[in-house]
Amino acid sequence: MPFEVAEFVDGCRGARREGHPHLAVRELLARATSARRDVEAVLGHEAGLATLHSSPDLTILHVVWPPGMSLFPHDHRMWAAIGVYGGQEDNAFYRRDTTGIVASGGRQLREHEVLLLGDDAIHAVSNPQQHAFTGAIHVYGGDFFSVPRSAWTADTLTEHAYDPDEAMDAFRVADEEWLARARSTPDT
Ligand SMILES: [Fe+2]
Repeated sequence: MPFEVAEFVDGCRGARREGHPHLAVRELLARATSARRDVEAVLGHEAGLATLHSSPDLTILHVVWPPGMSLFPHDHRMWAAIGVYGGQEDNAFYRRDTTGIVASGGRQLREHEVLLLGDDAIHAVSNPQQHAFTGAIHVYGGDFFSVPRSAWTADTLTEHAYDPDEAMDAFRVADEEWLARARSTPDT
């Protein structure tokens, strides 16, 4: 069955009313991410975060990572289900300690794979592919854009308030850098 945004959103809204919504959403993402061509045909390829649904208890984003992009560590303070339909997302996890955050493992998320994150997860995300975009659908069990949460500066791991514009900027800069690289090395 072709991927349809309205149908996927309805499915997630229904899942949100269940006792374990993230598990139901995982099933929906598993189905959606198995149909890369269908999803790409509907959602397109534009780099960045695009909102497919936003409400107080549910946010659904289409995320397209430019080649080689890295996003600074951040938390969500709500459960998240991440499904990759094309390419790869590398997750670096962190945990809080008495002085800040420290690295705590990672998970490579490949095409057709779904990752569930708990409310307290802290992660940095990168697209390890140097010449290909990564496409994903992210589902969050709350209002992704309004809930106050934290981000950490990538090099110093200094905590500050998460600013959605900072994330948007990171995607824009990464896309510009990728385009500049592609122009300077047209054979790759
Ligand atoms: Fe995240």
